[in-house]
Formats: sequence, C-alpha cells, structure tokens
Amino acid sequence: MPEFPPEPFRIKVVEPIKRTTRAQRERLMREAKYNVFLLRAEDIFIDLLTDSGTSAMSDTQWAALMQGDESYAGARSYFRLKEQIERIFCFKHFVPTHQGRAAENILCSLLIEPGNAVPNNNHFDTTGANVRAVGGQPVDLVIDEAKDPANRHPFKGNIDLGKLERFIEETGTENIPFGMITITNNAGGGQPVSMANIKAVGEMVHRYGIPFFIDACRYAENAIFIKQREAGYADKTPLEIAQEMFSAADGCTMSAKKDALVNIGGFLCMNDDALFERARQALILREGFPTYGGLAGRDLEALARGLVEGLDEDYLTYRLNHTAYLGERLLEIGIPIIEPPGGHAIYVDAGGFLPHIPAERYPGQALAIELYLEGGIRAVELGSVAFAYPDPTTGEIIRPALELVRLALPRRVYTQSHLDFVVETLAAIAARKDSIGGVEIVKEPELLRHFTAEFALMG
Ligand SMILES: Cc1ncc(COP(=O)(O)O)c(C=O)c1O
Repeated sequence: MPEFPPEPFRIKVVEPIKRTTRAQRERLMREAKYNVFLLRAEDIFIDLLTDSGTSAMSDTQWAALMQGDESYAGARSYFRLKEQIERIFCFKHFVPTHQGRAAENILCSLLIEPGNAVPNNNHFDTTGANVRAVGGQPVDLVIDEAKDPANRHPFKGNIDLGKLERFIEETGTENIPFGMITITNNAGGGQPVSMANIKAVGEMVHRYGIPFFIDACRYAENAIFIKQREAGYADKTPLEIAQEMFSAADGCTMSAKKDALVNIGGFLCMNDDALFERARQALILREGFPTYGGLAGRDLEALARGLVEGLDEDYLTYRLNHTAYLGERLLEIGIPIIEPPGGHAIYVDAGGFLPHIPAERYPGQALAIELYLEGGIRAVELGSVAFAYPDPTTGEIIRPALELVRLALPRRVYTQSHLDFVVETLAAIAARKDSIGGVEIVKEPELLRHFTAEFALMG
C-alpha cells in the first residue's frame, strides 16, 4: 500500500466549483466585511469551513433515500436505523434527533441542575453551550500534551486522570450529573482518545457513581486511530473497536453529520430505562415522535446505510491518510500545525506562522482572509475571534492558548489534487507572509461573534 493511498471510490456525480479572479475575491471579501462566514458558498473554490454535514453520500445512500418510509409512527426506516445503532453502539435505547446539539440539549436539560459541573476532555462549543444553558459549568480536563502543538503524543485527546480525580473530589459527586469524553477531540485538534483512557475514565466516574457519556460524532475515526496506534488492536475491526469503546459508557450523543456520512441527523443513546422514558417525552415536545425524532424517513434510511459505510476499514484508512497527507505536506513547507495530524482537520498554528501579528490583531482571521484572497479557500479561525472573552470581574481579555485556523476536510468530497492546491496556496502566502497585516473588529454581536462580526484590514 502506498504511504498515502488513493481515494477508495470513483466519482459518479460531479458538482462544478467556480474559479474566481483575485480582483473578484478582493471585492467579495470586502463585501463580506472580511468574515468568511458571510461569503456565498458558490464564490468559494475549496470549502474547508467544516466537515459537518458536508459529506458526499454514496450511490447506495442516494438509492436508500427512495426507500424512506415517511409514516409518522413505526416507520420501517426507523427499524433499519435501530438495527445498525444497536449493532454498533450497543446501548439499550436511543432516540433520533435532527442533529448532535439536539441530543446534547435533551441530555443536559434532563440531567443537569444549576450549579452542577460536567467534565470532558474538551467540550465542543455546542456541548459547552448546552451545559451552560441549564446552569451547569463545562470543565475541560484534557492532558497537558494537547496544549503543545508540536508534541506528537499518539492520543492527545486523552483526559488527564489525575485532574479528573481531583475535579471529582473537589466538586463532589452530588454536583456532577455525568462525565463525558469527546472522540475524537474536535476542540483539541481532532486528536484521538485511547481505548485505555476511555475505559479508565469510565471506571473512575463509575467508581464515584457518576454516569458516563461519549460524544461520539467521530467515533469511527477514533476507532481506526486505536487500531493503528494502540497495542492489542491491530487485528480488530473498526466495528469491534467501536463496540468495545461504547461498552465503557452509559450512553452517547451523536452528530451523524460526521462519521455517519449524512448531511443531517443525530441521536442520543442510553442504557438507563428511566432516563429513556424522560428522553422520549422531551423528544416528542422538541423534535418529534420517537420513531422519527427530527428527521424524515429518508434521512433515517441514509443514516442507517451511512453508519455501515462509515466503519469500512478501507475508507477509514484512506480518510486518516488523506488528512495526514495535507498535514505532512504543510509541515514540509514549514507551515506550523497541531501535530500529529488529526482525523478530520488540520489546524494551522496561525500565531506561530504570523508571529509579527499579535493576538489582539487576530492572526488567525488574517490568515483565513488570505486563504480566500490567494486561492478561494475557506477555512475557519479558531483563536481569539472565536474564543477570547472578557473576565466577568476584571474585564481583562482571556485568550485561548493558541491562535488557530482549521482546515476541515469534508468526507469523500475533495481529492488529493485539491489538497495539493491548498498546500500551494499556503506556500504562496508563506512567501509574502511578512507583508500580511492584522485585522480589527469593527462590529460584533454579544454572543458567538465569529459567525457575524465585521472586520477591517489593518495593513
Ligand atoms: C465534537 C462535536 N460535538 C457535537 C457537535 C454538534 O453537532 P451538530 O452540529 O450536529 O449539532 C459537533 C459539531 O461539529 C462536534 O464536532
């Protein structure tokens, strides 16, 4: 097998993408107030904004859409999905939801009381927001190695068990409604969690009588990382590894828009009968009847099929290599990234790449703008624009440890030559990087400012 194997699929349907001129992109970026979220998708050549809901479905998934049973209750499509979820995730119950955050919302609103705290390696932003929305406090306990971009720890998504035990002792079990772990760890660079760590975290929280949930969006990518990197798993299938991971937990939240290869969908699983009853009632109120949740019958069909395809070992091996290819080529030309490459995205260390731009002039945003101006590529800033906030008592600005730009790779969408183009674009930016200036925020909303803030170039 070559180091970076070719795509294990051929292209049956194509969607043209548009090349624009530099002059057009300058005008479009100006009109979008230098915020890539405000660009029209049709003006983008390669869109690496997110891997969520942007996968290409297979011919069998498209065919499955026609078999969707749109019955309000007891649809055949629900039972097809149930069979796959039971086979892979092995929990007693599940409810379908329209996407991951709806599953999080139901779980958090049923289990969290004001003043509670929830530990995780790193909460994804919607997970943290759902914990906060019901008066809880999300607490991130990832290992320290995760904070050093060049550290090649094989499981940089692991929870620090010492920190977890101290957190439980100090917080008190009565204030911790459940523990979580995110596989792979999106907010921490798409880094995997080892099987040993998943089990150790499960055992520790269970020892204290605390339930354990997995944020499972990228569970299949986590499983293939375990197969490749953890002793004792080389001969296991991704399915067997997934089953073993979930056997350590009491349930999971799932955004099917990632490893289940669909454009919309999610679910919440649990073993607890009483919690399931309450989740069903909450689902009926917010999402829909328990056999469709927030989804159409055809979505349930595509999801059932996507769960099978998403665990295919050839596909998963290609997927990790596809992402690694981009990361290793960027390192070759001297672009600093979070190492080793993660599962679904490459995170460029924009602060390290543009050291002459201080954090208060947003080097990540400056780089995201340059990627569009140079090559029509869209990526997202994950640094001070997205995460800095004023300390509620002192007003001092608290900044994230790193100023990052995420290049997220949609599944089965772009080829290796698209990735070469991304590398060439970054090489062209690197050649003139000293002339790139910072940006300032000229207008911002109160919450989640990165989506709608307006910027100006500072020269
Ligand atoms: C780790 C993680 N958890 C939860 C979510 C939320 O899922 P959704 O966007 O389907 O609501 C995401 C989405 O990107 C995610 O990456």
